[in-house]
Amino acid sequence: MIKRYTKIAIGLHWAIALLIFSAFPLGLYMHDLKLSPTKLHLYSYHKWLGITVLMLALIRVLWRATHRPPALHLARWQEIASQIVHGLLYLLMLAIPLSGWLMSSAKGVKTVWLGILPLPDLVEKSKALGELLSDVHTALNYTMLVLVAMHVAAALKHHFIDRDDVLLRMLPVNKG
Ligand code: HEM
Repeated sequence: MIKRYTKIAIGLHWAIALLIFSAFPLGLYMHDLKLSPTKLHLYSYHKWLGITVLMLALIRVLWRATHRPPALHLARWQEIASQIVHGLLYLLMLAIPLSGWLMSSAKGVKTVWLGILPLPDLVEKSKALGELLSDVHTALNYTMLVLVAMHVAAALKHHFIDRDDVLLRMLPVNKG
């Protein structure tokens, strides 16, 4: 019998993963477009996805702090490695959208979540700060890309090579 994560933890994990897998390529794509109404729309959609990630990540961190994941019996080095990667992923889930929001504020562009909820500007308008935060946003995203690749590779190794429950306990289906 597999000891799974709670339904809430599983739901948050896959919802955030889906949103990040949408926001990331959209960010890369929109960045290279020439200025046009389409580009501005895509920037809005990107921000909506990102702010939704921020909201869900906050709920997720609270949930994680109050609900321990089911125990796992792995080699010590694997436990330490997974704690480091998971800790960094939690940090980036918060830091990436926050850096985007800060960047938009510094660039003087309002963020209006889903076109209905105007968010406050976090910093004064400043071209230099906006450019710095844009670089920070990009660097954090590429750091996350590397960590997510490690995270996915580890999950697949557990499933297909070690044949243990590590991946199954985070899946919403009731197999096994
Ligand atoms: C998990 C959430 C997010 C992810 C994965 C993400 C990802 C990305 C990526 C990959 C880029 C392209 C970077 C490049 O080409 O150098 C980008 C650009 C951008 N993002 Fe995000 N982002 C997120 C959240 C946000 C939020 C919440 C905002 C604003 C409220 C935001 C605002 C922007 C802007 C304005 C750009 C374009 C930067 C520029 O033109 O210099 N992002 N994002």
